[in-house]
Amino acid sequence: MIALTGIKPTGQPHLGNFIGAIKPALALQNRPEITGYYFIADYHALVSERDPACLAQKSREVAATWLACGLDPEKSCIYRQSDISEIFELHWILSCLAAKGYLNRAHAYKAAMQVNQEKGQDLDQGVSLGLFSYPVLMAADILIVQAQLVPVGEDQKQHVEIARDIAMKFHHDYGDVLTIPQIAEVAEASTLCGFDGRKMSKSYGNHIPIFCDSSDLQKLIKKIPTDSSTPQEPKAAKGVLFDLFKSFATEDQINSLKEKYQHGVGWGEVKESVYQQISSYFASSKEKYDHFMAHPENIDAILIDGASRVRKKARQVLKQVKKAIGVGNNHMD
Ligand code: ADP
Ligand code: TRP
Repeated sequence: MIALTGIKPTGQPHLGNFIGAIKPALALQNRPEITGYYFIADYHALVSERDPACLAQKSREVAATWLACGLDPEKSCIYRQSDISEIFELHWILSCLAAKGYLNRAHAYKAAMQVNQEKGQDLDQGVSLGLFSYPVLMAADILIVQAQLVPVGEDQKQHVEIARDIAMKFHHDYGDVLTIPQIAEVAEASTLCGFDGRKMSKSYGNHIPIFCDSSDLQKLIKKIPTDSSTPQEPKAAKGVLFDLFKSFATEDQINSLKEKYQHGVGWGEVKESVYQQISSYFASSKEKYDHFMAHPENIDAILIDGASRVRKKARQVLKQVKKAIGVGNNHMD
């Protein structure tokens, strides 16, 4: 069974990416019946990233993050989306099946239109065809390898639903060729908020990178707003700081912070605990991350190997799809 997920290289991977996608995906890697396909969605990033050096650098950062957090390239495949050209051929085929009305409701496109509406601009101002068909490319990523499980955070679930819908349409029109994917439900996965209380996201600039210098981490945690309660006053065990702590702590540690909240604790002390918790959680991964970033040639070799394994599967599926829809010469390899 194949589990697949991707991360866009549009900024340094952050704690939200870790909790929503990386951690659940890596947990699946340890199940013997599952092969993980984890990729860098560089062609999705092209929708907003136009600096070539930056795109290349961010792609390596995403790969190094996966590897440092525990992706084992022997057990799982890690690859660049752009190395699997079969995805883009399938993308066109799926575009011909995808309902435009459904894509009109996809949240990235709707959000872009809403911004334009608020500014009193033409609704499609600055909207590329790439942004509009973003979910179709995502469907191609998933369907090209017949992935069954897709671990994603809350915000990407709609896109997986669209992929399911397109796969079902294909099934209806051409028969049972593509696998209908499912969202991988992971109990502990949740949406993490950034220091401004909104969903943590590279696009909102409110994110805390997984691997940043300790002084930057401290500064970002200090930015999280708190109320004006005195250290003696009891506090409700919730909010951005508490959720951050909870995401990286054991049951015992969580209970002990809860007690402090009940009996009184200063926000400075809570922030220090959050900082300590996050830095110790990622301490050994940070060393691995720095090592990979210092040796980009190792990252590239792993990505090339991953792509060559994935391409074999992608080629087979594309061949079946083309046969089913009646295009191409099926004697060609
Ligand atoms: P961003 O919003 O920062 O650009 P991506 O769109 O690249 O993040 O998301 C990559 C993966 O991480 C997706 O599966 C997404 O659902 C998950 N994810 C992103 N932000 C969060 C968050 N704040 N909490 C939980 N999961 C998240
Ligand atoms: N769109 C996803 C995001 O922004 C990244 C992604 C691209 C993806 N293709 C995918 C995730 C396929 C899961 C499956 O987070």
